[in-house]
Amino acid sequence: MADSNEMDNHSESGSSNDSSSSRQSNLHSLSSCISEPETPSTERSLLFEGSFNISWHPDTEFIVVVGGLGYIGSHTCLELIKSGFNIVIIDNLSNAYRNVFDHLGELAEKYWETQGRPVPLMRFYEADYGDADAIREILKEFIKPPTLEGGGSNDGVLRSRVKGVIHFGGFKSVSQSIQEPLKYYTNNVAGMIRFCEALQDFNIKTLIFSSSATVYGSVANIGVPLMEEYCTHKAETFMDHNGQFKTVQGGCSGLTNPYGRTKWMCEAILSDLAVADPEWTIVALRYFNPVGCDESGILGEDPRGVPTNLMPVIMRVMTGVSPALLVFGTDYPTADGTAVRDFIHVTDLAHGHIAALAAAADGRIPKGFRTYNLGSGTGASVLDIVRVVERLSDTKIPMKIVDRRDGDVGTCVANSMRARLELDWKTEKSLETCCRDILNFFACRKEGLVPVGV
Ligand code: UD1
Repeated sequence: MADSNEMDNHSESGSSNDSSSSRQSNLHSLSSCISEPETPSTERSLLFEGSFNISWHPDTEFIVVVGGLGYIGSHTCLELIKSGFNIVIIDNLSNAYRNVFDHLGELAEKYWETQGRPVPLMRFYEADYGDADAIREILKEFIKPPTLEGGGSNDGVLRSRVKGVIHFGGFKSVSQSIQEPLKYYTNNVAGMIRFCEALQDFNIKTLIFSSSATVYGSVANIGVPLMEEYCTHKAETFMDHNGQFKTVQGGCSGLTNPYGRTKWMCEAILSDLAVADPEWTIVALRYFNPVGCDESGILGEDPRGVPTNLMPVIMRVMTGVSPALLVFGTDYPTADGTAVRDFIHVTDLAHGHIAALAAAADGRIPKGFRTYNLGSGTGASVLDIVRVVERLSDTKIPMKIVDRRDGDVGTCVANSMRARLELDWKTEKSLETCCRDILNFFACRKEGLVPVGV
């Protein structure tokens, strides 16, 4: 176990402001997942898939990140590594590239070199998270030996070195989900069920689930920041935005697309699972609109196929791949008529996962199922984004106004008080920083500093 001096070192070195130092201090309760530089038998080098001739200290623990090479997953992995966590990435590369793992390794080495400390353990397995047999094979490697104090299967109970799992394995395109709903229900819903069954077999019962603001459906249009209670899975009484006590029944209303329905269904299933087995701690993080990328310019959003989210599309226009940005609707009841979203820097979002893991580990979140909005609480319109990118890049972005896109809502902004109060988390980075970081990523690409995905 890392002692508190050790952890204090992590905290000082990894933090540049008050909020990140409080985030770091929250990690004490997860200290066994944090690597221990002075433990002689703990392997320190980066571990790539297929080269597992290594041994590690019997106490070593890990966070599993499913979908860890994708856009949000890779940024979360980077922040986990910077916080000192040992990680196991499982990704089937359906919407990510293998060399993202190399980039993570480079960034990890660079970061820990400046701290004068070894890099935490990183493993990558190419596997489909919904393939329960493959997942079981991987998890077998992480069973604690029976000889360890508090470990092993002497009492018939399996104990794992995996202290928590973050699940980014779902598909996420609204438009594709409308065209191919079965693909979405199979991967996002059926896959998650099989995955949870595998976790259960190894007694791994701390799960952070990537949910989405899309679960609010057309409720988002009410024009006030959305509280988690506007979409619940059981009856709840709460004080609404008008200060009135209200009781809501579990359920949803006005889900606008199959992608959103898969996220809602997954939440409902996880909520039921936590009722049936109170050993589970399940946190569903409802992402608003993640944009931006790591300030290094090395990690970015690099999907396979043609992107449909606003920011990657704007970048395609800027780099000349697409002739113009199609603006989907200028007749929404918003200030400029274009849709309003709550854009959040992906690094802030990544920190939200670490905050959730820490809160789950030290009991600030009770066992069971709990949802949190991860958003800034501030809306920006499609045209606002275009203006910021144009100003920062000194480039005109050609636009064409077209009809509203199927499955879209007009406004979707978070009330993020629950995450602030219970997870000690809030956004730090501005919309301008989001856009600047993305422009930097593309500039690095253009200069050949970052190879395209392979
Ligand atoms: C939706 C979900 C979000 C989820 C994301 C996953 C809602 C309210 N939000 O995001 O929680 O994480 O899907 O993909 O359901 N736009 C254009 N032109 C483009 C692309 C987008 O005008 O070429 C507009 C869209 O109409 C929308 C806004 O930009 O109003 C943002 O779109 P996008 O980036 O795709 O995200 P959401 O659909 O809001």
